[in-house]
Amino acid sequence: MITNVGLLGYGTVGAGVAKIISLEDSLLSQKVGWSLKLARATVRDLDAPRAFPPPPGLLTTDPRDVVGNPDIQVVVEAMGGIEPARTLILKALESGQNVVTANKALLAIHGVEIFAKAKECRREIFFEAAVAGAIPVIRTLKEGLAANRILSVFGILNGTTNYILTRMTQDASSFQDALFEAQSHGYAEADPTADVEGFDAAHKLIILTALAHGVLPSLKDIQVEGITKLDAKDFDFAGELGFTIKLLAVSARNPEDGLLEVRLHPAMIPQGHLLAGVSGVLNAVVIRGHASGDIFLSGAGAGMMATASAVVGDIIEIARLSHSAPAVGKPSLGWQSLTSERIKSPTEIYTRYYLRFTVHDRPGVLAAISGVFSAHNISIAQVIQKGVDPTGSVSLVILTHLAAEKDLQMALSETQKLGVLTAETKLIRVEDFARY
Ligand SMILES: NC(=O)c1ccc[n+]([C@@H]2O[C@H](COP(=O)([O-])OP(=O)(O)OC[C@H]3O[C@@H](n4cnc5c(N)ncnc54)[C@H](OP(=O)(O)O)[C@@H]3O)[C@@H](O)[C@H]2O)c1
Repeated sequence: MITNVGLLGYGTVGAGVAKIISLEDSLLSQKVGWSLKLARATVRDLDAPRAFPPPPGLLTTDPRDVVGNPDIQVVVEAMGGIEPARTLILKALESGQNVVTANKALLAIHGVEIFAKAKECRREIFFEAAVAGAIPVIRTLKEGLAANRILSVFGILNGTTNYILTRMTQDASSFQDALFEAQSHGYAEADPTADVEGFDAAHKLIILTALAHGVLPSLKDIQVEGITKLDAKDFDFAGELGFTIKLLAVSARNPEDGLLEVRLHPAMIPQGHLLAGVSGVLNAVVIRGHASGDIFLSGAGAGMMATASAVVGDIIEIARLSHSAPAVGKPSLGWQSLTSERIKSPTEIYTRYYLRFTVHDRPGVLAAISGVFSAHNISIAQVIQKGVDPTGSVSLVILTHLAAEKDLQMALSETQKLGVLTAETKLIRVEDFARY
């Protein structure tokens, strides 16, 4: 018996998938019980150089050689983007083919439609590679932790930004220098917007929220803040306060009001926390189940072979399922149906805050700012004042206790009217993980 696999795309991911299927035939046969075979692969340019040379006749520019081809049982979408990927996946499902995709943007935006189509057509759609590359986080949430109410998922979901933040922490690099270094190592795209503004990680966070809580929020419902405004000075202060700065994805049910918090932003986390030690391009997640407690997973979030590892794992799973029992329209996200639920708005969030004011070096400034804080119910946990610069300004760092974001924003706008600030105030949320 043979399971024939068709690829949509033969770029980084597609070539990795081809390499594993072509070179590991005996290993995969042992695991599946029969062979996986690459049938066709759709590309735009037949003559472009390939990281793993395809056998003659594999490549085609016509997606109909893959989608709707009755000889192909599993379609792997590894082309990226929204169209034509969306239409081709829907057609493949309608044609009775099972689908594997690594496309987080597509699932985050069109997941509801695609998962419904898979259910209607009684086909499988697997997407382990769409979140955190090689790390089996989808399967962990969907199967391994299925018995749990998921209390929280915290993650470092983007390798590019984690590399930049690691350089800023370890070498005191500026954001621009660290970005340039990431680009020179091939860890960041020439246009890094999707990574550094947080959209790539936000797409993954949306998918994790669906698996963890049965709710697929839209991008506009969640708080997304990238890393472009982080300043080298804040990394110094973070170290002094015992924190590390990470771009943190949070999907958690607040135990006090029962509402979902889904947010992605730079956060100061205690240096002793598991996620603080995740450096360079690595990704990681900490999942807290009501029965399991904390589960920590870490590994390569991207790259040709790491991503292909997840994709081929999905192909193997589909091959096993499709021959052991007919697909019965099982829920792709592990829930029989998705619900819609209000996600807490950013102004309703309570957290601790790190604030760095740049102020005139003169008496009464701290008293004026702390007076504003106290008027808005914000309690101060720690203060550091340091370093007069040539213009006569000093950094005044305030760490707050738990405070409401709406109170904090009001207090911050009032501090602007005090006439003591000489530069924009920097704000980084502080996460201590214990509340969820
Ligand atoms: N790279 C990673 O480490 C990684 C990790 C996790 C997830 N992903 C996801 O995996 C997907 C693929 O990423 P990638 O890095 O492999 O991208 P890539 O290197 O740019 O490869 C894309 C492939 O799709 C083909 N393609 C694109 N549009 C096409 C169209 N309209 N018709 C036919 N072929 C088309 C391209 O053909 P040509 O080669 O002829 O241009 C290329 O072979 C994306 O959704 C990405 O987010 C990637």
